[in-house]
Amino acid sequence: MSNASTTPPVSHRGHWKSQFGFLMAAIGSAIGLGNLWRFPYLVGTNGGAIFVLVYLVLLAIVGIPLMLTEITIGQYGQSDALGSYKKIHPKVSFFGAMGILAAVLMLSFYGTIGGWVTYYVGVYFMAIFGGTNPAGKSMEVFSELISVPSLSISWHLVFMLACIVIVLGGLQKGTERANKIMIPLLFFSLLILGFAAMTLPGSSEGLSFYLKPDFSKLSFSVLGSALGQVFFSLSLGMGTMITYGSYLSKKQSGKKNSVVIPICDTLAALLAGLVIFPAVFATGMKPGSGPGLIFVTLPEVFNKLPGGNYIGLIFFVTVLFAAISSAISALEIPVAYLVDQKKVKRQSAVLWLGLAITLLGILPSLSNGNGPLTQFSISALFGNPEWMKSIKFLTLNPFDLPDYIVSYILLPLGGLALCIGGAWIMGKEKLLGVITHNGTKPFKLGNLYFTIIKYIAPIAILIIFVQSLFS
Ligand code: TRP
Repeated sequence: MSNASTTPPVSHRGHWKSQFGFLMAAIGSAIGLGNLWRFPYLVGTNGGAIFVLVYLVLLAIVGIPLMLTEITIGQYGQSDALGSYKKIHPKVSFFGAMGILAAVLMLSFYGTIGGWVTYYVGVYFMAIFGGTNPAGKSMEVFSELISVPSLSISWHLVFMLACIVIVLGGLQKGTERANKIMIPLLFFSLLILGFAAMTLPGSSEGLSFYLKPDFSKLSFSVLGSALGQVFFSLSLGMGTMITYGSYLSKKQSGKKNSVVIPICDTLAALLAGLVIFPAVFATGMKPGSGPGLIFVTLPEVFNKLPGGNYIGLIFFVTVLFAAISSAISALEIPVAYLVDQKKVKRQSAVLWLGLAITLLGILPSLSNGNGPLTQFSISALFGNPEWMKSIKFLTLNPFDLPDYIVSYILLPLGGLALCIGGAWIMGKEKLLGVITHNGTKPFKLGNLYFTIIKYIAPIAILIIFVQSLFS
């Protein structure tokens, strides 16, 4: 099992206790706020079912092949994101650095939302014991949470602390074990919630919004959002799967996993939609409320259901599990970098990075609702001159900016990096060699896979990336 015997210099690195543990951790990384918060609100604001359809198509032609590529690069490199790219070719180690930067940026705003979720777990827990739930004033409750600095910052800290403690526990005893418990529970509670939602009278309108595509709504902006979502949801393009794959020995199989992970991830997203949209329509709410969808709209929905406080609690605990398992995977990326490249002890790496990212995350925590930094942007700093207003990222505040840079720029570039590193530099023989264990394991779709990551995926990414950037 241990890869230490085949690659001596990496004996200080961790490795997964079991193939199942890897799978749960990878699925845990993939399923997160991206599925339960971001996916439903993007469906709601991008025309409903058409977004779902585009998402599924891009998942098949870009997501799954790149998942295999990313895991394989990690298995080949047996190192962190930067080290693995360096092994492919020293000139492309900056691909890994880009991923590490993306992970740090992503975690900064992810922790803000994770904090909101933690708060709602607390609210529903209290509601069961006689406290009031947010229904009827859910907008006020949410606005207060996101606007009052002491509130949003303290919940952000609680969430980050939980993640840091788990990662401090070590790869097997922390990350792997936590995922093995959280992920099965997560699917179980999503199924319960899905059944509850489907039995609501009037849920069918929500189903058709969610499942019947309206092709007139197709646009490059829908394509761009869907592509960004494929990367975001599958944890692709940042080096998470390189890092997790690197803890697999070369004898373990990445191939089956790269299909199983996206399928589970997509099931979770689709299930989340099945929970949310029928319930939203059945209770006469609107689906297009954006990032507040699960925090503002759903409490009203829960309140109209029998046992609503319990359903609310189950829902937000589920989201919290999903968020933690993803956040720790993002934290593992820079941690692996410091451990592998800088020979820092794992525990110190976790502590220092955890601290730095948590502090950085205070900025996005102050940038929502009436928070002090909500109106702040680079363009605002210069008094909003006309020319700056036309360049999107200059106009975004510290909460929207990292999401935008990560999802619309760094992740697609990270996807291109995977295609270039895997298909163009490693090349067919080496790449397929790792996947097939030097030809001892069959890979019937090998040629198709390679054509996709060499030509089809990069072209698709480039077109959508450039178009959506300028649209
Ligand atoms: N996939 C996670 C989600 O859906 C977020 C995430 C974790 C991520 N690690 C990542 C996204 C690495 C991109 C890259 O919420």
